Amino acid sequence: MKIEGKEYRTIWFERNIVKIIDQTKLPHQFIIKELKTVKDAINSIKTMEVRGAPLIGGTAAYGLVLAIQENNDTKFIKKSSEELIDSRPTAINLKWAIDRMLKTISGINSDQILDIALNEAKEICDEDEKFCENIGINGLKIIEEIYNKKKDTVNILTHCNAGWLATINWGTATSPIYHAHKKGIPVHVWVDETRPRNQGANLTSYELNEEEIPNTIITDNTGGILMQRNEVDMCIVGTDRTLSNGDVCNKIGTYLKALAAHDNNVPFYVALPSSTIDWEIKDAKDIPIEERNSEELSHIEGVDENNKIKRVLIYPYKSKAMNLAFDVTPAKYVTGLITERGITEASFDGLKKLFK
Ligand code: MRU
Repeated sequence: MKIEGKEYRTIWFERNIVKIIDQTKLPHQFIIKELKTVKDAINSIKTMEVRGAPLIGGTAAYGLVLAIQENNDTKFIKKSSEELIDSRPTAINLKWAIDRMLKTISGINSDQILDIALNEAKEICDEDEKFCENIGINGLKIIEEIYNKKKDTVNILTHCNAGWLATINWGTATSPIYHAHKKGIPVHVWVDETRPRNQGANLTSYELNEEEIPNTIITDNTGGILMQRNEVDMCIVGTDRTLSNGDVCNKIGTYLKALAAHDNNVPFYVALPSSTIDWEIKDAKDIPIEERNSEELSHIEGVDENNKIKRVLIYPYKSKAMNLAFDVTPAKYVTGLITERGITEASFDGLKKLFK
């Protein structure tokens, strides 16, 4: 998608170097960063220069390519794979991407391994872009249906950033929105700010602005009253891991938005590529929920009057804070899952029909 009129993907490989858009600097600075070693890739995932389930999967795949470039010894590849998987625990795409890479390079001799790994990493990213495009084509039908009934702007609420910046391109939750906009359907997006890191305000609103899609940032607590006032036609969110029973793990606060949607009969959709489905874990309690540094709550970053990025403390300095990064929305609150193969109910049978 576009930034200042120029088309980008979120990650690409150029002359033995992986290039990414540093998302910690957005929306105030647009910086392309180079990752030269597997340690760079791990650091980039940990510090959230790259984030969003599909993008960290793509970064892990390229991270393994960087590892092989440094040293194609089996032990080093194994250690690097483990470190990449451990770099963020909740999004399943990380492990999914590394498992796929390891399967592809298994048994390949050392003079071919780098080329084969590089091809597979590219394939993972190309496939994600295609899958996200298909999510958009499938999700467009829901927006179109609402528009045909309403004959007025469709108001869509989203949480966190499940936009193109969280994937390779198109996004998951935003792809149906981009497709609707391209088709001339009037859409307006309520963007949950998404504390503590403000991915909604800093990333979703930013990317929608760049594509000229009307949007309004709201605090995370505003969605409820907007739904009571009939100002939300549907919600679409992304996911970091969806269990085969349809339970959806996503950015903290998603569950509360789903409850509000349920209470107000607002359709609540989750958009995901199949790489985000966890077929193994059966009980949501077993999903590893990332707990991040409490300084993400107690400190906030912005630009001052001289356009300089500043970080300030906003809590009483003696206060403790707790920073769980994800929650789980039970399948019963999910109207449907929008995938690359179609829309299905959030249940084992629904997912099985499409994917097994
Ligand atoms: O902590 P983040 O910013 O990586 O969390 C991202 C989300 O929760 C997204 O909604 C999810 O990864 C889906 S991305 C298409």
